[in-house]
Amino acid sequence: MRTIAVVNQKGGCGKTITSINLAAFIAREQKRVLLVDMDPQGHATLGVLSGAVGSPTMYEVFVTEPGGQPTRLRHITRSVRENLDVAPSDIRLSAIPERLTGVAGRETVLAENLAEVRVRYDFAIIDCPPNVGLLTFNALRACSEAIVPMDPSFFSLHGLGKQLETFDALEKQTGHRITPRVLLTLYSGRTPFVRAVVDEIRGHLSGRHFATIIRYSVKLAEAASHGLPIAHYARYCAGYEDYQALTAEVLQQDAGSPKGERITLADVVTPTEDDDSERPLPPAVTHAGVMFTVDAPDAARVQLAGDFNDWVLDGNDMNPVGRVWKRVVKLQPGRYRYRYVVDGVWQRDPLNPAVEPSPYGGHNSILVVDEKFAE
Ligand SMILES: Nc1ncnc2c1ncn2[C@@H]1O[C@H](COP(=O)(O)OP(=O)(O)OP(=O)(O)O)[C@@H](O)[C@H]1O
Ligand SMILES: [Mg+2]
Repeated sequence: MRTIAVVNQKGGCGKTITSINLAAFIAREQKRVLLVDMDPQGHATLGVLSGAVGSPTMYEVFVTEPGGQPTRLRHITRSVRENLDVAPSDIRLSAIPERLTGVAGRETVLAENLAEVRVRYDFAIIDCPPNVGLLTFNALRACSEAIVPMDPSFFSLHGLGKQLETFDALEKQTGHRITPRVLLTLYSGRTPFVRAVVDEIRGHLSGRHFATIIRYSVKLAEAASHGLPIAHYARYCAGYEDYQALTAEVLQQDAGSPKGERITLADVVTPTEDDDSERPLPPAVTHAGVMFTVDAPDAARVQLAGDFNDWVLDGNDMNPVGRVWKRVVKLQPGRYRYRYVVDGVWQRDPLNPAVEPSPYGGHNSILVVDEKFAE
């Protein structure tokens, strides 16, 4: 089981929206996911369950009333949908630090409970509260990876240093090591300041941030208010596209491949040119050239646009093969930007984590063709 805490002591930077949507998209990839809500505000719980939540919640896992039976994490999980469970929270969690004052082992309650369910789930995603207290410490002791969402503002840059210091301090104190990665969220790209923050992050955090950037997308807030992840609410919006790309990036790390700035053809499988599999793939080499594949079962028309065809749509239709669409292009060695155009909607390649913001909005996918694979 991979345990990922979504943590930043700064409020309102997209922790909960990231936890909910990453958990839901990973579950759609046939992985079993537990979303753990460690915030007394209970927003992650509300974002996936509609209606009253009621007891028991994480509170009971931490606090056993005198004479009561201890409650374990596995007793409180609720099923959200196939492959996705939630361990809910409620406002009583805010009393936990006080209730557990002086209790031995209070910082490892979550870690011990998660250890008991590690064969039931492939992923645990922990949504943290916006402060560094006992609840956040429990999440950090339980995880080996952390996603640090960050909205591009001056205060965020200031807070980020402090947040990264927390991981270092924890490692010094306890020997427990966490791999943090920063995720830019709520990106509007409109002001030079925002673009400067992005450059700063990329410059200073090489390898410690996600290539995916989460754009501002009003549908994300709308979906959460209906108790739904974006994956089950709206297909054609920036929020869907971005969290799908983040999921691909997280799962790619799972496969053990190094997190790179780019995808190269050396990394991917090489089906034959007449491959009629309906499996969506990142760009792959064939005898006839580079094969692009995109999953769009409901589309009427899909086109491929990129540097290699001057972004011209006419004459660059992809061919339907079952639920996927394909097109093979001969490419010289080099670095290319491209996008799929699904029924007129421009989108990045959801299976390729390498992207860069486009000056026209959204993101372009990046492909690097190595010498040995080129025509
Ligand atoms: N990419 C986005 N586009 C538009 N709105 C967003 C996006 N991400 C988050 N929001 C909205 O911004 C607000 C804060 O997001 P969220 O609750 O995820 O932040 P948080 O870090 O969990 O906050 P807190 O620190 O209070 O727990 C919410 O209203 C949410 O719906
Ligand atoms: Mg939150």
